[in-house]
Amino acid sequence: MNIRRILTLSLLLCCCVVSFAQKFANLALTPQMGWNSWNKFGCDINEEKIKGIADAFVKLGLKEMGYQYIILDDGWMGMHRDDQGNFVANPDKFPHGMKALADYIHSKGLKFGLYSCVGDSTCAGYPGSRGHEYQDALKFAEWGVDYLKFDWCYANMMNAYEAYKTMRDALHAANRPVLFSLCEWGDNQPWKWAKNVGHSWRTTGDINNCFNGSKDRYGVLEVLTNRDQAMLRKVAGPGHWNDMDMLEIGNGGLTHFEEETHFALWAILASPLILGNDLRNISPSTLDIIKNTDVIAVNQDKLGIQGFRYKIVQGSVEIWIRPLVNDEWAVCFFNNSDQTVDLKYNWLGETIKDPDFNYAVTFTKNKIYKLRDLYTHKTIGTISRILSFKLAKNQSLMLKLYN
Ligand code: GLA
Repeated sequence: MNIRRILTLSLLLCCCVVSFAQKFANLALTPQMGWNSWNKFGCDINEEKIKGIADAFVKLGLKEMGYQYIILDDGWMGMHRDDQGNFVANPDKFPHGMKALADYIHSKGLKFGLYSCVGDSTCAGYPGSRGHEYQDALKFAEWGVDYLKFDWCYANMMNAYEAYKTMRDALHAANRPVLFSLCEWGDNQPWKWAKNVGHSWRTTGDINNCFNGSKDRYGVLEVLTNRDQAMLRKVAGPGHWNDMDMLEIGNGGLTHFEEETHFALWAILASPLILGNDLRNISPSTLDIIKNTDVIAVNQDKLGIQGFRYKIVQGSVEIWIRPLVNDEWAVCFFNNSDQTVDLKYNWLGETIKDPDFNYAVTFTKNKIYKLRDLYTHKTIGTISRILSFKLAKNQSLMLKLYN
């Protein structure tokens, strides 16, 4: 082979590697959206249930809203690997195996995700991926897996960066683009090292089906307060997101207003929107919330800037802000209290400056922003008038400011 030919071939090879890495990197330019089995079903999953969820997913029109992944969490695998050390689907729960299920999900135009774990064992005691990373990545590719949630149980003093990088390299080597979701609970500050390892990283321990939890049992609020959001937001951006954990909307533990607020804050914080309820049995009010195109648009905003808590007014009303494309702003007033508050807010004279990124807005009579109520989808006036709104316990008002 002459030198020219060798050079051309090397160049081609380089281009392939670069474009594959690019494909991988482009999988989460906005936060991922989908459904995961854990919050509602734990390990109690099976083929029939998941197919039913996929059917409901499509029937409810979630695909059109941007949701695309169906992810099986812990408990999909058999208690043991096969003789060659391969993962096997739990034969009682998934008698036709994972490939058949992936095919079914793909046939609906959806994507398929699985869960595994850094350690020898998953949190629920099934086999984990330790020492089998490359083998598992190949198996996942063979089955048609598009998303991997990778947990941190039984990691036994492993170096988190190395452990997750090994799995990332294995996924790359298997040559199928897989969205890689790190579930390390923030123990080793993944926001400092995970940007080039995975597409998202969990920031806290598990969310529970409640709004106000406790120190040992996180509800929606503890997920927000357990970590310094001001610090976290600096590292989020297209391709790599802080994951505030899966949604508890529709699981019965939150009021209507709390479900609305949960969704709104996850949108402001650019967190992945992974539903965790039984889609086969969903109330109209929950469906309304998860199909709110205006709030979803905030979550999926192309600028990719995670929002921030701007200030607290009237004792308990938190104002959360997110700069959006085209000089638009999402503003969420959240009444973090048990008492109803008669909110009065004067925009004029206010300058909001993003503390970390180069965005600022000044409200004056010379530049009037309109206010769109993202829950009613109506324009409710402009910043020239004092905003007046009654906010009940844990209720929020989510607005978009636009020209
Ligand atoms: C951990 C994760 C959860 C879930 C369970 C499964 O607790 O943080 O999201 O995946 O494991 O066992």
